[in-house]
Amino acid sequence: MSRLVEDNVLLELNDVSTSFKISGQYYDAVSHVNLEVKKDEILAIVGESGCGKSTLATTIMGLHNPDVTHISGQVLFEGRDLLQFDEKGLNEVRGAKIGMIFQDPLSALNPLKRIEDQIKEVLDYHTEMTAKEKHDRVIELLDQVGIVNPERTANQFPHELSGGMRQRVIIAIAIACKPDIIIADEPTTALDVTIQAQILDVLRGIQRENHAGIILITHDLGVVAETAD
Ligand SMILES: Nc1ncnc2c1ncn2[C@@H]1O[C@H](COP(=O)(O)OP(=O)(O)O)[C@@H](O)[C@H]1O
Ligand SMILES: [Mg+2]
Repeated sequence: MSRLVEDNVLLELNDVSTSFKISGQYYDAVSHVNLEVKKDEILAIVGESGCGKSTLATTIMGLHNPDVTHISGQVLFEGRDLLQFDEKGLNEVRGAKIGMIFQDPLSALNPLKRIEDQIKEVLDYHTEMTAKEKHDRVIELLDQVGIVNPERTANQFPHELSGGMRQRVIIAIAIACKPDIIIADEPTTALDVTIQAQILDVLRGIQRENHAGIILITHDLGVVAETAD
């Protein structure tokens, strides 16, 4: 049996480096990172602003333009190296098996679309659900992330929601297809302290219910102390 299966390791990074090309020269943003994420684990990545946390997340998700980025190492998921995947292969993994919660809860949502339609997009892409099943799943997800009146919120636009509610919606989108891994990039940074605590509770609840592995990116040691394994 491979190590990945044996130890419940979901994701393994071996010697991952990412550099950006600027004026014809490559500069390292991430250098030689090794880590593993297990099932049911919250792994925190901590560091000051600008140290390369988001770049590491987008490297795992395969979101870099190869023309201006050089990536080396291995990102092993289910025993296969995501760095070798083409766009089609990555699209099957992203959103379905690995969900990402982006840093900025406002810009991650489309201002012109109702919440329900934004959550349905990922279900449209990755599932064969009927319209009724999709609607029910949207309501279930909004409930799971702690939205008090899911039917009402489903019908609203992002600008009608508070920052905390928007972040809950972002999380609902990230977990819509029950991913094995959730990458949360500073999920609480833009929120005030009481809302931060609620959002961390939501993440812990999801980890317990879905048995996901979570990579929690933050520059806040208080968040780490409270949340990380
Ligand atoms: N697309 C890019 N092109 C060039 N430099 C970038 C790009 N994205 C990030 N950087 C640089 O890489 C470094 C790491 O950025 P980032 O990963 O966003 O840090 P963090 O998330 O830890 O605050 C920073 O110096 C940033 O300016
Ligand atoms: Mg960042």
